[in-house]
Amino acid sequence: MYVCICYAVRERDIERSVASGAASFEEVQKQLQISTGCGACRLEADRCYRRFALSKHSARFSSAEEFA
Ligand code: FES
Repeated sequence: MYVCICYAVRERDIERSVASGAASFEEVQKQLQISTGCGACRLEADRCYRRFALSKHSARFSSAEEFA
């Protein structure tokens, strides 16, 4: 599903950006240009980023618990 129409950014593009190391929404913006046009996608883009970042953090935390 497209999140940003101006730059044709999909949810999976944001997910890949987070998975490849983007540590903030601003880093995702630099990579994908998301929310740098009209700005209409800002809330949805931020929500998407937070969901993938939380998911990545939770997976890392869970695997750390397994080795504790
Ligand atoms: S829809 Fe994302 S900047 Fe316009």
